Amino acid sequence: ALVVRHRMRCSGRWARAMAILREFEENCGTPIGKLGQVADAMTVEMHAGLASEGGSKLKMLISYVDNLPSGEENGLFYALDLGGTNFRVIRVLLGGRDGGVVKQEFEEVSIPPHLMTGSSDALFDYIATALANFVATEGEGLHPSPGKQRELGFTFSFPVRQTSISSGNLIKWTKGFSIDDTVGEDVVGELTKAMERVGLDMRVSALVNDTIGTLAGGRYYNPDVIAAVILGTGTNAAYVERAQAIPKWHGLLPKSGEMVINMEWGNFRSSHLPLTEYDQDLDVESLNPGEQIFEKIISGMYLGEIVRRVLLKMAEEAAFFGDTVPPKLKIPFILRTPHMSAMHHDESSDLRVVGSKLKDILEISHTSLKMRIAIVELCDIVATRGARLSAAGIVGIIKKLGRDAVKDGEKQKSVIAMDGGLYEHYSKFSTCMESTLKELLGEEVSDNIVIKLSNDGSGIGAALLAASHSQYLEVAES
Ligand code: GLC
Repeated sequence: ALVVRHRMRCSGRWARAMAILREFEENCGTPIGKLGQVADAMTVEMHAGLASEGGSKLKMLISYVDNLPSGEENGLFYALDLGGTNFRVIRVLLGGRDGGVVKQEFEEVSIPPHLMTGSSDALFDYIATALANFVATEGEGLHPSPGKQRELGFTFSFPVRQTSISSGNLIKWTKGFSIDDTVGEDVVGELTKAMERVGLDMRVSALVNDTIGTLAGGRYYNPDVIAAVILGTGTNAAYVERAQAIPKWHGLLPKSGEMVINMEWGNFRSSHLPLTEYDQDLDVESLNPGEQIFEKIISGMYLGEIVRRVLLKMAEEAAFFGDTVPPKLKIPFILRTPHMSAMHHDESSDLRVVGSKLKDILEISHTSLKMRIAIVELCDIVATRGARLSAAGIVGIIKKLGRDAVKDGEKQKSVIAMDGGLYEHYSKFSTCMESTLKELLGEEVSDNIVIKLSNDGSGIGAALLAASHSQYLEVAES
């Protein structure tokens, strides 16, 4: 009788756990019709954000990049790429027309977590020190010409209101950074002051978002690149707009007639987005409540956390892991997206990777195969929603550019430079994103849309933009 009662209790729990999972799945639904609405809403918000400052949740920031790399860029340049838990310092020797990137060296430095929420000076001092150490390793043939100041392209992957190609004020932090005294400040000023403090003589010649850097780096190698998308810790997109189509731009019309726009699409929000109670809770408890809603359901910083929240509910309300709730499961952000990806890609018949992740990360030692299958399914629901929504975002851009139809049989290629660990390492995510793009655009159009992984293009891109905005350029030309 005891055994029977135990079994009955278990099957009741299982049914409850599955009910939670099914309800979540339903609320995450992204049928094609809904994705079409999301894409259209993206296009509408793009127009609104270009029309006036504050016209939309999409900031549509003017980058001051009105000329993308031409291939003529020449000389030694540095780049600094700050945007996640790591930053990179890069040294590039550009060889001008036909020379290409002659030499490239980089170093990656991780940012101690306390600096992400400390003071502005502490963060920038840390970065400037690492940069100075890297400069000190300049080898044979990799020195600036005598009497010339070193120049830097600064990739700063947060929303910035630019005041020129080489200055701009931080609007707000995203992705887990929260340092009050940087907000509203010119980040180039912050970096320059820190470089002075550590005795490094270097000039910031270009300040760019990672999307802009990726676009510039992508265009250098491929003239058909018209947009860049980042799917990493955060998510965002940039694209080349006609200057005439930017009513809020009151500056001179650039010679090229073009201006690159940093959309900051992570902050996109629409009633068509499939949001669940878990997303709402995650948002409320985040460092930036009410902001970056699109980012919070798509990007690498959050996907694993969404999975954790659903599992926690299944544990608390349906005893999914037994009578007690595994204590580790209560720790926010303990389950990272790379762990989730490893579980999702587990192809072993007994799902032993799922088992070992649960054990290593959450200290849950006993799980049945049935439970593991349910967990993989949960990963699939979360990743699929994110991937399909990011495809819808890309379609929004393609529509804005009028490239969503084949005109007069003309085959105009549109290449989207892509970067970010989520896209690069989570293959079920990227595969789903790409097949959804096809589904949304149809065979004929999608044949002309190419997604190209542009691995760490943003660093090179920033160096290229530093080169084309070098202080020595006019002197050399006149
Ligand atoms: C966040 C930042 C944005 C950046 C993106 C990808 O959304 O706000 O500026 O481009 O992450 O790194």
